[in-house]
Amino acid sequence: MSSSEPLTFLLALGSVRSDRQGGRLAELLSRRIEALGHRPALADPRDFELPLLDRMYKEYAPGSAPPAMVRLADLIRTADGVVVVSAEYNHGIPAALKNLLDHFLEEWFHRPAAIATYSAGRFGGVRAAMQLRMTLAELGMPTISSLLPVPEIGKAIAEDGTDQTEWLTGAADKFLTELAWWAEAARRQKAAVGEPY
Ligand SMILES: Cc1cc2nc3c(=O)[nH]c(=O)nc-3n(C[C@H](O)[C@H](O)[C@H](O)COP(=O)(O)O)c2cc1C
Repeated sequence: MSSSEPLTFLLALGSVRSDRQGGRLAELLSRRIEALGHRPALADPRDFELPLLDRMYKEYAPGSAPPAMVRLADLIRTADGVVVVSAEYNHGIPAALKNLLDHFLEEWFHRPAAIATYSAGRFGGVRAAMQLRMTLAELGMPTISSLLPVPEIGKAIAEDGTDQTEWLTGAADKFLTELAWWAEAARRQKAAVGEPY
């Protein structure tokens, strides 16, 4: 069941490698978000060129944050929900993703999030997914129960984001529908009583 009003889902990518595979999964999810009647938006650390964390966005005096950081903060604030699309590097979260997340705090608050991971091998990035749940919780983002781990991403998804499997599109739709349910609930609650803090 999808919500009556389209929701905006921010896809937060974690890899900045020039040969990265993660764009495939982000593209597939972006298409499925649209197919379900919602709006995708993209937070790609490659587009924003954040420095390694010096000052958090909120630590800049009003009007003095770097323009890329302002754009990113605006993107986060317009999101009803967040889909984190993460690789797994040495059983953990890619540094670029942690850096992107750590630059912000209140901007992330009260946005339901969903964790999609991938890997070249058979485990689909599930170890990074477990770490992400803890980090997202600290950023005020409750994560949905389902994960979307994609093993052997190079075979599972074509470069242009086309699903090469028999299972991924269905799993992605179920995953996004669960996120939409929570995002719609959060949106209604914010409209009814505002944010808790
Ligand atoms: C620094 C580094 C560490 C990696 N560590 C893991 C790992 O712990 N588990 C795993 O399944 N794959 C690991 N891989 C392989 C990745 O799953 C594969 O390279 C994947 O395409 C990385 O995502 P990206 O291409 O979007 O950067 C690692 C790759 C790199 C570059």
